[in-house]
Amino acid sequence: MIERPIIALDFPSKKEIELFLEKFPKTEKLFVKVGMEIFYQEGPEIVSWLKELGHDIFLDLKLHDIPNTVERAMARLANLGVAITNVHAAGGIEMMTAAKRGLQNGTKEGQNVPLLIAVTQLTSTCEEQMQQEQLISVSLEESVRHYAQCAEKAGLDGVVCSAQEAAAIKGATNSEFMCLTPGIRPAGSDAGDQKRIVTPAKARQIGSSAIVVGRPITQSATPFDTYQEIKQAWKEAIQ
Ligand code: C5P
Repeated sequence: MIERPIIALDFPSKKEIELFLEKFPKTEKLFVKVGMEIFYQEGPEIVSWLKELGHDIFLDLKLHDIPNTVERAMARLANLGVAITNVHAAGGIEMMTAAKRGLQNGTKEGQNVPLLIAVTQLTSTCEEQMQQEQLISVSLEESVRHYAQCAEKAGLDGVVCSAQEAAAIKGATNSEFMCLTPGIRPAGSDAGDQKRIVTPAKARQIGSSAIVVGRPITQSATPFDTYQEIKQAWKEAIQ
């Protein structure tokens, strides 16, 4: 289990992130998610900078290409010293295995190999879309479960999924397999564009290994207080 909520740094530039981080005590070491928007804007330096500030990083770039390309790209990402990164399970077991190998080979001596997790079906994909556009005829839950098992076979550490899917995945994979869950909202807060949301405590109860929280913290008038409340609710919930 990852004790700290992972804060999604969905900001357009480093300047905005700097302003956001100023609202936290300097001694508070965070676990942050760096996504495509900020990575493509600022480049790998954004990761080095956040690491220098003492934060842990989930680099959410969702790689999906031929195994050789993904392996080589992962070796470069491992070099950045991130804690977690990810691929699309739809790339296949061979691609996921290559991704893992790339991370292992790219990690500097004495450093931890980043955890590697897979995106199963994007939460923006509904069952009807999946069946009509991807020609997958099983239910969305079955597809998600199957992709999670493929990720496990490839030696990955877990998946990104909605908290509602976590129980099914937990039941179908080994006990160490992680479910990182976005779509988290503290009780009574605004859902934004997320449709299937759960509270931090509920996420813990139904099998999340880590929660990813964006707007409830990034758009809060008091981000540090909100962060602490979410962290407390997540940590104190009974599994
Ligand atoms: O602001 P909010 O808490 O909704 O942010 C959730 C974060 O998790 C965003 O960065 C979003 O892109 C990401 N995410 C998600 N659903 C997924 C995978 C990632 O919401 N299935």
